[in-house]
Amino acid sequence: MATSFLENSTRTKHSFEVAIYKLGGFFLDFNAETSSLKKGETLLDTLITLKAQGVDLCIIRTSISNQLDEFRNSPPIKIINGGDGVNEHPTQALLDLFTLIELAGSAANLKGKTMTIVGDLIHSRVGHSLIKLLPQYGMSLILCGPPEFLPAFELPTNVRLKTHLDEAILESDFLYMLRVQKERHEKNYEHTFTDYIKNYGVSLKRLQDLNKLVPVLHPGPCNIGVELDLEITKSKFYQAHFQVENSVPMRMAIIHSILNNEHTHIGKKNGAFT
Ligand code: NCD
Repeated sequence: MATSFLENSTRTKHSFEVAIYKLGGFFLDFNAETSSLKKGETLLDTLITLKAQGVDLCIIRTSISNQLDEFRNSPPIKIINGGDGVNEHPTQALLDLFTLIELAGSAANLKGKTMTIVGDLIHSRVGHSLIKLLPQYGMSLILCGPPEFLPAFELPTNVRLKTHLDEAILESDFLYMLRVQKERHEKNYEHTFTDYIKNYGVSLKRLQDLNKLVPVLHPGPCNIGVELDLEITKSKFYQAHFQVENSVPMRMAIIHSILNNEHTHIGKKNGAFT
């Protein structure tokens, strides 16, 4: 396998690498900076080259949204999307689903549960994938954040918007905090960060005051003092480390299923997920 991370990563890249080792495979750590991509080679040619060298599967992270769409209908090699720009991060959403199933006790128990996703919703690929995935398990979602970070696209049923965090928390069984994605901001949102923790951050005290000590998830990396305070990250309600733990078996399962099924792509086909 090849891990081709054209954008920074700690958790996703390493957990894929550990997953590959645990499955008995090995990987090429494809380094974009020292590769022929820097000489103008296309990603398509790069993938054809990796395939010719015996690579079965390539895990790609890119800062360009939808960059992998060109391979959707005839992929030159099996591909896993490790996060593409602001578009999607499907394997993160799947490992979060796994974590939620563990917290709820079973997938069936997720039906009717409400989770609030808080923060920079328009720039978060994790948020976009969760919005597609979790309602399929019967969950209701509240999207909460500053008005300028709330999505303008059509929302699936069972997904609502709210700008008042305390109101959203009172209705929630789980909270999912998103990192403010400053590196993806095309506009200046500085005014939004004044009092961000007060308006859209979660602290242990906030949950205690509301008498709503619910599990708090975060995909990491987190900005302590922005979307979370230090105390909540040290509390038993904080799930980020369990999410990382779960990322290895979930990514093992994803790799295993992609290598062993006959599908040439994974995603939505004729209305059904494959
Ligand atoms: C996320 C990412 O890279 O999209 N992190 C991750 O994969 N664990 C979230 C983020 O960067 O905020």
